[in-house]
Amino acid sequence: MLGVLAAAALVVVLLATKGASLAVVENLSTETDDVSKDPHVFSTYSLPSDDRFMPSIGNGHVATNMFSDTVYMNGLYNGFKGESHRARIPSWANIRLNSTLTQNPYSPMYNLDTKHGVFTVTVDRERSVVTQRIYAHRFYTRAIVNQIQVASKHRPDPNFLHPEIWIAIKLMPGPTSVDIAFEDPIPEIIDGRTVWSVCGQTKVSEDQTYQPLPLDVCAYWTSVPDHLVVPQHGTRVFTFAMTVDKNKTIARHELIKVLQTDGEELFEKHVEQWQRLYQQAGVHIEGNLKLAKIVNGIWYYYLSSLPAEVSHQPLDRFFGLSPTGLARGGTFDDYEGHNFWDTETWMYPSILLLYPQYAHALLQYRLETAYVAAHLARSTGHKGYRFPWESAYTGTEVTQPCCPEVAEFEQHVSGCISFAARQYLATTRDEDWLKQGGCSLVTNIADFWASRAVINYTSGFYDIENVMGPDEDHSNVTNSAFTNVVAGYSMYLAQYVACLCKDYYMSREPEHYADIAWSLALPYDADLDYHPQYTGYARGEGIKQADVVLLGFPLQYPMNESTRMNDLSYYESVTRSSGPAMTWSMHAVGHLRLGDRQHAEKMFNKSYKAYVWTELRRPDVGAVNFHTGMGGFLQALMFGYAGVSVYLDRLEINRPQLPPQTTRLKIRGMKYLGANLTLDIDENDISLTATSIDDNWPLLINNGKYNVTLVPGLTVTLSGDGPFTIRSKQWKDCKVPADVIGQSYLRPIGT
Ligand SMILES: *[C@@H]1O[C@H](CO)[C@@H](O)[C@H](O)[C@H]1NC(C)=O
Ligand SMILES: *[C@@H]1O[C@H](CO)[C@@H](O)[C@H](O)[C@H]1NC(C)=O
Ligand SMILES: *[C@@H]1O[C@H](CO)[C@@H](O)[C@H](O)[C@H]1NC(C)=O
Ligand SMILES: *[C@@H]1O[C@H](CO)[C@@H](O)[C@H](O)[C@H]1NC(C)=O
Ligand SMILES: *[C@@H]1O[C@H](CO)[C@@H](O)[C@H](O)[C@H]1NC(C)=O
Ligand SMILES: *[C@@H]1O[C@H](CO)[C@@H](O)[C@H](O)[C@H]1NC(C)=O
Ligand SMILES: *[C@@H]1O[C@H](CO)[C@@H](O)[C@H](O)[C@H]1NC(C)=O
Ligand SMILES: *[C@@H]1O[C@H](CO)[C@@H](O)[C@H](O)[C@H]1NC(C)=O
Ligand SMILES: *[C@@H]1O[C@H](CO)[C@@H](O)[C@H](O)[C@H]1NC(C)=O
Repeated sequence: MLGVLAAAALVVVLLATKGASLAVVENLSTETDDVSKDPHVFSTYSLPSDDRFMPSIGNGHVATNMFSDTVYMNGLYNGFKGESHRARIPSWANIRLNSTLTQNPYSPMYNLDTKHGVFTVTVDRERSVVTQRIYAHRFYTRAIVNQIQVASKHRPDPNFLHPEIWIAIKLMPGPTSVDIAFEDPIPEIIDGRTVWSVCGQTKVSEDQTYQPLPLDVCAYWTSVPDHLVVPQHGTRVFTFAMTVDKNKTIARHELIKVLQTDGEELFEKHVEQWQRLYQQAGVHIEGNLKLAKIVNGIWYYYLSSLPAEVSHQPLDRFFGLSPTGLARGGTFDDYEGHNFWDTETWMYPSILLLYPQYAHALLQYRLETAYVAAHLARSTGHKGYRFPWESAYTGTEVTQPCCPEVAEFEQHVSGCISFAARQYLATTRDEDWLKQGGCSLVTNIADFWASRAVINYTSGFYDIENVMGPDEDHSNVTNSAFTNVVAGYSMYLAQYVACLCKDYYMSREPEHYADIAWSLALPYDADLDYHPQYTGYARGEGIKQADVVLLGFPLQYPMNESTRMNDLSYYESVTRSSGPAMTWSMHAVGHLRLGDRQHAEKMFNKSYKAYVWTELRRPDVGAVNFHTGMGGFLQALMFGYAGVSVYLDRLEINRPQLPPQTTRLKIRGMKYLGANLTLDIDENDISLTATSIDDNWPLLINNGKYNVTLVPGLTVTLSGDGPFTIRSKQWKDCKVPADVIGQSYLRPIGT
C-alpha cells in the first residue's frame, strides 16, 4: 500500500452514505464501510454522495477537502465583517482518474492514511494498477502534491509487444473564484515542463480600518494532460503539484523545488515530518479499533490545520484553528473559517498537553489581534481587551449577520482566552511568553472584566449584566455562572501574573482585581444545592448545551461533590437533544471525577456515537468534521478517563481508568514544566514514566503513599484512585490565587 489516509473524514463518509450514527462502523458488511483494520487507516470502496462528508488533507498553510474544486490558505479571507470567509482558490490540485468518475468495472479503493498524512486512490485495472497519492506537503508547505503511479501487470516478454497503457485523467479546478480577482494565467516552461501561474487579490476587505489593502495570492501548477501514457511494462510515477502563497516568488520557488525533487524522496520528506509530529506525543488506545480510529483521526485533523514546525521556506503568521479546520470555511455552515471560543475551550486543552508549541501558536494569534480587541472594548465603553465572538483575518468582530446577539453578549470568549493562557502558564511557566505579550494579554483581559463588573450595594456582590453564557438559548442575562467564573479567574490570574511579571511589567491594580473577583456573584441555590445558570434562571427551563457543568470541568471550580452531582444531573435533564456535540463529553468527565463509572459511560457513549464528526445529530448535521466536538471527545479521554488535571501549582491525575471496551489507554509525551511524561493505563497497572525532566523544575510525584522524585527513565506505579499530584517548586515568590468567587464583600473575608 502506498500511502496513509486521514482517519476522521472517512468515518464521516460512512455516516454520510448510511445516514446513521457512527455505530455504522460496526456494520462491516456493506461496500461503504471502513474495511481497514489498521487504526491509522480508513478505507472504503466508495465515496460519499454528499461532498461535505469527504475527508480532507492539509498542512496548516494549505488544505482541501478531497476532490473538491477548492483550496484554502491560512489567513486568506474575503468579505466584509460578518461575511468574511475563507477565500476560494480554484483547486489546480483536484486531479481525478477517469476510472473514478464514471461507472466502470474497476472498483477503486480509497484510503485516508492518518499516519503518513496522505489520501490514496487505488484502481486495479486489467493491465495495470494505478495508485494516486494526494497530500499537502508538510515540508514544502506551499504545495499540494499528486503522484500517480501506474504499474503494468505485464511481464516483459520479448515475443509479444503489448500496446502502451493509457490512463485518462482530468484536472477539475471548478469555476473561477468569486472571492479573488485573478489575472489571466501565464504559462512558462520550468525544467522542461509546462507550468501555469496566476496571481490575484481578494475582492472585499474585512474591515478597512485594520485591512486597508486587499490580500494577495499567487498559485502555480503543473499542466495536466488528458492521458498518462506508460510503456507496456514497468512502473512509472507522474508528479503534479500546485503551490500557493501570498508571495509569487515563494510560490514559484516552492514549485521548482518540488519538481526538482525525486518522486519518492518528495514523499519521504513529507512522511518524515508527520513522523516527527507523532514521535513527540500521542494518545494510544488498544482493544477498541473504533475508538482508536477516532482518536487517530482527530489528531490527524488537528495537525493538518496547525503550522509545520520545519519547512523549506519560512511560514507566514498563523491565523488559528476554526471549528471545521483549514480545509473548510467558505460558507456559513463551515463557520467561515473563523475563530471562536471553540479554539481555546474545546480544541486547545488536549493540544496544550501534547504539543505546547501549538498552544503557543494559538495564543499568538490572539496576541497579534489584541490591539483590535482593545478598540472593541473601548467602543463599548469598557477597558482592556474585549475579544470578538468571531475573529478572522484582522481580529475585528466578524460574527455572521444572522446572529448579532452572540457578538453582543457572548463576552465569555475573553475569559476563555485568559483561561487558556492560565493553563499554558501552568504547564510551561514560559517566562519568554510573559515578556513577549503574555503579561499584557492577561492584565488587559482582567481590565475588561473589572470594567464590566458593577457593584450592587443591596446584595453586596459585583454583578456582570447583559451577557450570554455558552447556552445560546438565553440571551442578555445577569451573572451567567460560567461567565462570572471565567471573569473571576481572569482577574485572579492577572493578580498572579502581576507578581510573576513585576520585574518587567507594571500592572496597575492587582489587589483590586482580586477584590472584585472575590465578590463577583455566583448564582447558587442553597435549598436545591445547585448552580442556577444565571440570576433569575427559572428551574425547568430547557438549555442548548453544556454551560454550568463546565464549572466542574474544564474550569475545575471548587465546589462540594453534592453540588457537582446536582448540577450534572439537573442540567442533563434540561439540555435539548438538538444541541451541539460537546455537551456529553463534559458530563462524562464530571461523572468520572465523581466516581460514577456507569453514568460516565452512558454520557461518553452519547458524546461520540451520535456525532463525533458532526456538530449535530442527524438529520441536522450542522458543521461537518467538527473540530469542536472532536475536542470535547478527546478531553473526555485525557481529562476524564486518564484523569489529568492542570492547576497553577500542580498536575493531578484523578481516578485514572480505562475507557469502556478498551485494554489500554496511553498518553505519551505529555509536557509538564519541560518534562516529558507518559501515562500508561492498562488492565493490570497504571504507571507514569518520565522520559526527561527539566533541571530547572525538579518534579515530585505523590503516588498515593510517598513523594517520589521523578528522574529520567523512572516509572512510578500509581495505585488506588489518587489524586496523584505532580509538583515542582513554587514559581518565583508568587502565591497561586484564591480562585474563589461569590463571597459577598459585605461579609468579612473568610467566613
Ligand atoms: C447494522 O445493521 C443491522 C442489520 O442490517 C441494522 O439493523 C442496524 O440498524 C445497523 N446499525 C446501524 C447503526 O446502522
Ligand atoms: C475523462 O472524464 C471527463 C469527465 O467525465 C471527460 O470529459 C473526458 O472526456 C474523459 N477522458 C477520457 C479520455 O475519457
Ligand atoms: C517575496 O519573497 C521573496 C523571497 O523570500 C522576498 O525577497 C520578497 O521580498 C518577498 N516579496 C514580498 C512582497 O514580500
Ligand atoms: C442588586 O441585587 C438585588 C438583590 O439581589 C437585586 O434585587 C437587584 O436587582 C440588583 N440590582 C441591580 C441593579 O442589578
Ligand atoms: C438587554 O437587556 C437590557 C436590560 O438589562 C436592555 O436595556 C437591552 O435593550 C437588552 N438588549 C437586547 C438586545 O435585548
Ligand atoms: C459543602 O459541604 C460542607 C460540609 O457538608 C458544608 O459545610 C458547606 O456549607 C457546603 N458548601 C456549600 C457551598 O454548600
Ligand atoms: C456503551 O457502548 C458500548 C459499545 O457500544 C456498549 O457495549 C455499552 O453497553 C454502552 N454502555 C452504556 C452504559 O450504555
Ligand atoms: C517523550 O517521551 C515519549 C515516550 O518515551 C517519546 O516517544 C517522545 O519522543 C518524547 N518526546 C519528546 C519531545 O522528547
Ligand atoms: C509530599 O510533599 C508535599 C509537598 O511538598 C508535602 O506537603 C507532603 O507532606 C509530602 N507527603 C509525604 C507523605 O511526605
